[in-house]
Amino acid sequence: MKHSEQILRATESIRDKRRELEDDEWRLHYHVTAPVFWMNDPNGFSFFQNEYHLFYQHHPYSTEWGDIHWGHVKSRDLVHWEHLPHALAPSEPYDQDGCFSGSAIEKDGKLFLFYTGNRWTGKNQDTDLKQVQCIAVSEDGENFTKIAENPVISQPPEGDIHPNHFRDPKVWKQGEHYYCVLGSQTNHRVGQVLLYRSSDLLTWEFMNVAARGKGNMGYMWECPDFFQLDGQDVLVMSPQGVEPEGEFYHNLHQAVYALGDLNLTKGEFDFDSFHPLDYGFDFYAPQTTLDNKGRRILIAWMAMWESDMPERKDHWAGAMTLPREIYFENNQLKCLPVKELESLRHDYLHFENILVEEKVTLDGLEGDSMEINVVIDAMETTQFGVKVRCNDLFTEQTILTYDGENQLFSMNRDNSGKGPGGIRKAPLSLKNNLLNLKIFIDRSSVEVFLQEGEKVMSARIYPGEDANGVQFFSDRKVKIVKLEKWSLGNRGGGIAGTVLVMH
Ligand code: FRU
Repeated sequence: MKHSEQILRATESIRDKRRELEDDEWRLHYHVTAPVFWMNDPNGFSFFQNEYHLFYQHHPYSTEWGDIHWGHVKSRDLVHWEHLPHALAPSEPYDQDGCFSGSAIEKDGKLFLFYTGNRWTGKNQDTDLKQVQCIAVSEDGENFTKIAENPVISQPPEGDIHPNHFRDPKVWKQGEHYYCVLGSQTNHRVGQVLLYRSSDLLTWEFMNVAARGKGNMGYMWECPDFFQLDGQDVLVMSPQGVEPEGEFYHNLHQAVYALGDLNLTKGEFDFDSFHPLDYGFDFYAPQTTLDNKGRRILIAWMAMWESDMPERKDHWAGAMTLPREIYFENNQLKCLPVKELESLRHDYLHFENILVEEKVTLDGLEGDSMEINVVIDAMETTQFGVKVRCNDLFTEQTILTYDGENQLFSMNRDNSGKGPGGIRKAPLSLKNNLLNLKIFIDRSSVEVFLQEGEKVMSARIYPGEDANGVQFFSDRKVKIVKLEKWSLGNRGGGIAGTVLVMH
């Protein structure tokens, strides 16, 4: 079938099904999700003709991964998103089994999508695959044509480079040239990133293995991204197979950043270590873009491979994180939700100077779709925190705890409702004995920004509809110095930010 026919077929598949989803108990109010069915990685995140475009890996016929298309949403403010028809569907011999992850870049007023064409060559999806790099172009940011020259990179280079795992192009322009990083592994299962260069976006020259894992850095690096931020070179990637180290790296796969120096003559990125971009449960394949305000904005898949996703019963699976601005402050990479999200706020509530001895609930502080900003003075206390999405009997609760003795902040979802449990921890110190939390709760998610963006933890949770309570707790005495809360999203209920435009 022709590409345009494949796109139409996918559109028809989701058109009717989506209407049923809006009132589902776990449907998110202000996060991007697919209209229906499976989604994974964000792709092609870009700012084109004054709008943000975000694409994503989508199966238009199932809540399981497979038959990967590029779904598409766009927005003027990163808050209200409009669904558009699929941008890419498998249709050619080189991408017949999937249009895998990639990026977007503007050139001559057109939007170029770079993606990996995937083909299975046998039954084993780990070994029997052929991956090539391809381009599709659009003038209007909505209809994309695959170019005749595809694939533009038809095989991996020679050297200690795995012949099959070769994917996820991220393209950027620097000086006179375009550059592209690609996810790869060596022939002996060490993750690495390949660097290419081009002067016209169509012909690509392999430069070097820009970075390779050393020690416990995983067997495959997926979805690399490279950018300069406040004068520093930053490599972002999603390593598979990093082993847990003490309290950290307990997710199946990781998403990390490394600071270093990219030498564009040698094609080498010099770095020592990497660090998680998020310390929670559900965060993978982040991608960034630079917008017209000069902000570097990051968005990730808020899910994890092989995780149970209870929303499947309602015909959808997976979501995006909130768009987050990343920046450096005092040599630290920080990350906060974009300011525009404040436009969703309503029903303001605030409290000051409240002592918490053992436990405290606050009048009116509850909900399944809200933002809570709170500053807590730890006083003499070592263990304290807040429980969210609690039911009356506290048989359901998601527990956020600060442990002063070990300087760790934790998120415990063992009793969050349906779905997987577990505990995740982030290293954290108090500032002037204060803990600052910015908590975003959407119907089946929680994202906690710690100490004004120093760390962040994200998770999907699946509580019952009556689990809307919030309770502060402390092993001795702490003081809530200030608390502000807003409900977020549509006053009348329903999905706040998304409008579906289908043609
Ligand atoms: C990362 C990933 C990418 C690949 C895509 C396939 O989550 O495995 O490496 O391109 O998903 O959907």
